[in-house]
Parts: sequence; C-alpha cells; structure tokens
Amino acid sequence: MNNFEFYNPVKVVFGPGEIAKTGDEAAKIGKKALLVTYKEHDFFQALIDLVCSLCGGSGVEVVPFYEITANPLIGQAQKGVEACNEHGVDFIIGLGGGSAMDAAKAIAAGVKYDGSLWQMVASRHDGSEIKFPHEALPMMMIPTLPATGSEMNCCGVITNEATTEKSYFWDPCLYPVVSIVDPELTCSLPGYQSACGAADTISHVLEFYINGLEDTFLNNRIQEGVMQTCFEYGPKVLEDAEDVSARSQLQWASIMAQNGISQPGNGWTPMHQIGHVLSARYNIAHGASLSIVMPAWMKVLNHKRPERYETFATNVCGISPEGKTQQELVDAGIAYFENFLRDSGVPTTLSEAGIPAADIEDIVADAVRISFGPDKMLSCVPPVSPEEAVTVLKTAV
Ligand SMILES: [Fe+2]
Repeated sequence: MNNFEFYNPVKVVFGPGEIAKTGDEAAKIGKKALLVTYKEHDFFQALIDLVCSLCGGSGVEVVPFYEITANPLIGQAQKGVEACNEHGVDFIIGLGGGSAMDAAKAIAAGVKYDGSLWQMVASRHDGSEIKFPHEALPMMMIPTLPATGSEMNCCGVITNEATTEKSYFWDPCLYPVVSIVDPELTCSLPGYQSACGAADTISHVLEFYINGLEDTFLNNRIQEGVMQTCFEYGPKVLEDAEDVSARSQLQWASIMAQNGISQPGNGWTPMHQIGHVLSARYNIAHGASLSIVMPAWMKVLNHKRPERYETFATNVCGISPEGKTQQELVDAGIAYFENFLRDSGVPTTLSEAGIPAADIEDIVADAVRISFGPDKMLSCVPPVSPEEAVTVLKTAV
C-alpha cells in the first residue's frame, strides 16, 4: 500500500427533504451569493425559486447567474467572475449537475485568481505557465444529478472553447464548505441523464479498480460496493423515477466514488482522458463518452491484468467462476457490464453517438496532446500507448 495524505473537509447534509436546511447553512457562510446554474433552467425554476426563498428567509441575498451549459466553458466562468465583482458577493452556490458545480468552482477560484482563468487548468498546451488556484470564495453545492461527486471533492473540469481542450483544475481551496444533497431533487431527472450519471459513477471507481495501484485491498472493496450499488439501483430509478430510496443509494455512491476515500494515493483516470476528447469535440454527455469507452477498453486491455477483471466478474457482477476458464470469466464480466449499459439506454459505440470512425486517429491525437505524458503514454497501471487507445476506439465503432 502506498503512503498517502487524505484531507476532505466538506460537510455533507444528506437526505430527502434536507433542501430545507439551505437557508440555515447559507447564512453560516455569507450574506450574498452568486447562484451558478444553467442557461437552460426552466425545468428546475421551482427549485431555483425555493433556494432563493430559503436563503432570503435566513437573510442571505442571492444573485442568479444563468450562463452555464453542459461541458462548461472557460468564457462562462470568466463572466461569472465579472458578475461576482459587479454584485459584491461573498460566496458561491453551485446548483445543478457536475457542469454547474465545476463552473461554480472555476468562478470561486477566478475571483481570487491573478491571471487568465485558463492558466489554472492542467494539461494545457498553449505554452503558458500552469498556475493552480490557491484561494477561492467559499462555496455551497446543491447537486441535482448524482454523477461527478463534485459536491465533495476539490476538482473541476472545464473546456477552452477556443481550443476544445477539456481538462482539470484542482486545489484544496476548491472543497465546498457544505453540500446539501437531497435525493428528492434528482427524481425529475430524465432516464437518460440518470443512466449517464450511473455510468460516470461507475467509471470513477472502475478506472482505479482495473488500472490503479497494486496492494489496495480495502480501496477495491469500496469500489466494488459503489459499482454494485449502481448495478442494483440504476435499473430501479429507470423503472420508477420517483423511487427516492434508490435515488439516495445512487447519490451516495456517486459521492463515495469521487471524494478521495476509495482512491487515496492514486490519481489516474485514463478512460476519462479519452472520454473528455469525445465530449469536448462532439458535445456528448460526459457519462455517454465513458459508456462508449469503458466496455471497449476492457475488451482490448483485459489480458494485461486479468486478475482484476476476474474479481470484477465475480465480486461486482456476481458471476460464478465454476466451469469457466479465466478468459471466459473475464469475458462474461465484460459482457454483463456492457449489457447493463445498453439496457440503461446509454451508448456503447461511437456510431450510436454519431461519432465517425474516420475521426478515431484525430481523437487519439487530441488525447495524446492533452493528457498523455512526455513518454507519449497514458498514465495508469500498466500505461496505455496511443496505438492501444486507437484499438480501443476501433473496438467501439
Ligand atoms: Fe467523470
């Protein structure tokens, strides 16, 4: 087991009905907040009104900022910084899915940041110095989609619209002060978004499970629990969108997948690096980019670490090893997972997402430029070459 440091100061207020505590919690942070949410927000205007009313009841003024899109852009964050300065807010509320919360983080850091916002994003290739943020306005998050875990981590993802580079920024200053996690808020999610969220949650642990460090017994058991939760409760919310109990299970799983507990000492997310190129180039949902990459990745690369795929089949998918060779067991686990994704309605091929197979070489070239190391390999165990990444995507046509 590797040495590691673990730090996570986020207060999580979790459970159906807990949105009622928004005003009390907001009043502990500040007096005036920028509410960062979506440009297209009609579908949850009632929730925005409720948050404003709860905050107002506790003496907190809220300035709505309706500029964020899926796959948020650095220009949107810059506008948010200007809004903070114009209105003199002293904290930020991120309301929505990962896009809204990540944009909220970029804005919170941007207010205190000296330089172009794009400079704080890692893996840039514009020649300017990378300068991580070290100070940010305090934040409250109110997630409406279980997926990214942004409500309990210090990381964000943002895209440069000029270069279509999508990458990460992070710093302990980006931990929210508090997150109000009310699973009832997720009951109105369309099935497709729910399924994309579950695929994203699974990817956050699967990538460590099959490509993470050695000697991580407890981490792997937590990761198995997260994936089992998605397999068990994902179909339930597709059957009954109002199943708050199932919504609660999925939401806590999404948080546990990405709050650092299941992967201390290990930061590789190799499949995300390919997925980010797909979502940045073709504006598909983040979870959909991963549902395309994951099964193909597993089919192409399982031979390099079959023991991880064996326990995936037995412990996560519940497949009996009896009468099966190792490869048959591995293949059965991958097939089970692929069927789970297909049944939940997310794409598992490039063609389903309208991505031409002819673009594969360009997609991988982007990933190499943005995310591969100086050795032109993608960091994980074992490292993945550009040629292998091409084979993965060709397996996903
Ligand atoms: Fe993700």
